[in-house]
Amino acid sequence: MSQFELQDEQNHPRPQVPEFTQMVERSVSRRRFLGGAAALGAAAFFSVSPLSRAVAAATGSSPLLGFSAVPTSTADTFVVPPGYQAERLISWGDPLFSNVAEFINGGGNSAADQLGQFGDNNDGMSFFPIDANTAILVVNNEYCNYELMFAHQGKQMTGEDVKKAQASQGVSVLTLKKNANGWQVEKDGQYNRRIHANTPMTISGPAKGHTLLQTQADPNGERVLGTFNNCANGMTPWGTYLTCEENVHGYFGSTEQVTITPAQARYGIGPDDAGWQWHQFDERFNLAKHPNECNRFGWVVEIDPQNPNSTPIKRTALGRFKHENAELVIDKSGHVVVYLGDDERGEHIYRFVSLHKYNPDNPAANRHLLDEGTLYVARFNSANDGEPSGTGEWLPLIFGENGLTPENGFTSQAQVLIHARLAATQVGATTMDRPEWVAVHPTEPMVFCTLTNNKNRGVADNQAINGPNPRAENNYGQIIRWQPTSGHHTDATFNWDLFLLAGNPTVHQDTAYAGSSNINADNMFNSPDGIGFDKAGRLWIQTDGKYSNEGDFAGQGNNQMLCADPATGEVRRFLTGPIACEITGLAFTPDQKTVFVGVQHPGEDLAGSHFPLGGEHTPRSSVMMITRQDGGIIGT
Ligand code: FEO
Ligand code: CA
Ligand code: CA
Repeated sequence: MSQFELQDEQNHPRPQVPEFTQMVERSVSRRRFLGGAAALGAAAFFSVSPLSRAVAAATGSSPLLGFSAVPTSTADTFVVPPGYQAERLISWGDPLFSNVAEFINGGGNSAADQLGQFGDNNDGMSFFPIDANTAILVVNNEYCNYELMFAHQGKQMTGEDVKKAQASQGVSVLTLKKNANGWQVEKDGQYNRRIHANTPMTISGPAKGHTLLQTQADPNGERVLGTFNNCANGMTPWGTYLTCEENVHGYFGSTEQVTITPAQARYGIGPDDAGWQWHQFDERFNLAKHPNECNRFGWVVEIDPQNPNSTPIKRTALGRFKHENAELVIDKSGHVVVYLGDDERGEHIYRFVSLHKYNPDNPAANRHLLDEGTLYVARFNSANDGEPSGTGEWLPLIFGENGLTPENGFTSQAQVLIHARLAATQVGATTMDRPEWVAVHPTEPMVFCTLTNNKNRGVADNQAINGPNPRAENNYGQIIRWQPTSGHHTDATFNWDLFLLAGNPTVHQDTAYAGSSNINADNMFNSPDGIGFDKAGRLWIQTDGKYSNEGDFAGQGNNQMLCADPATGEVRRFLTGPIACEITGLAFTPDQKTVFVGVQHPGEDLAGSHFPLGGEHTPRSSVMMITRQDGGIIGT
């Protein structure tokens, strides 16, 4: 969530729509919800439906969850359960190299400094073990907060300031070394690297070279400078990292006359940027001069972290939209499947299936598996009575099929991928409440996706309530899950239900806004965002929600991370973050004894945090390293 978007999000009053709200409450009352899920449980794919297990959830009987719940917090601290400890691994501005300046409070560092420092607003990350005492941690740097990055708080931007902002986003590759105190970042480590908004990269896959990707600087449409707004991530079994470009629309704009195409409008691109002001100092972000530059962002980028000289590759076969994460799994058939969310109100969930199969014996042969395959988008069917479960299907986005034809404005497979959102609408995809991370269970063919919130549900013309998105003006969010019909991630169809509806049972009694039956006064939260499984199948849930602690959010405190048992539905809070932060980014070591968790934008909008160093220090996004005092496995 960018600093600029948040202004739109905050203090959004709920219009009075009693008739509509009552309808939702009737169709998805807590009682009804329970019954629907229980009915599903017998017939369907999950042997135990969490939504039917209110008693188990309330009594805390899960054998998977072995830690004591942490209460909500409004303090400027990072709180983990008794028996656990958390240390700061690295923060925005820490130098990766010995010839780079240390972080200076109050915005004193230059753009050149930032190029050699850890980027800002760390988000998704992956841990790549090299040997027992060496690893690579690759971390996304999603955006930056001008109010913290510059003494002028973004009010007097210069070209140098824009260069610094560009240097602060992208990806940080960190060499980690393990010693008696645990893992630490090695300054000047052999893998250390910054990838940013001006790093040269290539474009590959079906859209490479398309006219929509051609610019004056790159008439062939196959080389591009940089990546930015890198939200969440993925990793491949062939040792590469996937970084996902999310809110890229907000960096483009123009002070000149400019014509916005319907496709640009669908991607949120217009003459006014989101406040970044890059187009005023860096011409390639000026839509009037370079109308195609914006089409070169909104992709998944593959990076080889073991080779600091490697060129990142934008994989166009995975489609262009506001990518959240890229959850990659090797299906039993050997095909690579990547699940992808498009984080926008009313957008969609996608799946890529590779044409070729993964070959574990030939790593080099896997390097371009993400270039050929089929992109699909999800349609969720539900019973007419609004039950929060049903069947679904994956609709292929193939030029020439399902109406993706010239008479509907589609001219090639490349253009279908560049305008994937338009193609998804054409084939009849289901509009969702902002799909964020997708996570695949480590042993069962089960897939979970966070739908973080959607103030437009039931309000905007194209966003009527539907089965997986059952609440109008949904400001709490939900987690959907599905299982492929035959257990293959390549299946054309699936069954789905809702794993939970976040809510506030202390504010809303007996309505859908109280949340599902596995949500109670002790574990409530809003806006699930980051999710991931550990090896044992615990589902970790991170929040990017409202932290006002009042009104609809009373008693929910700062953003947090929880842990859920997929079998019983129990949800238990594991940690709480400092003031005005988001918790995002999750990476376990293979022994499951260390977990890295991100604290993003503490003190945004000058909210008064001084995390992590306290005193009068500038608040800084940080990666935290959590271990158990007895050296045990996290979560047990
Ligand atoms: Fe970057 Fe959708 O969160
Ligand atoms: Ca978010
Ligand atoms: Ca997110």
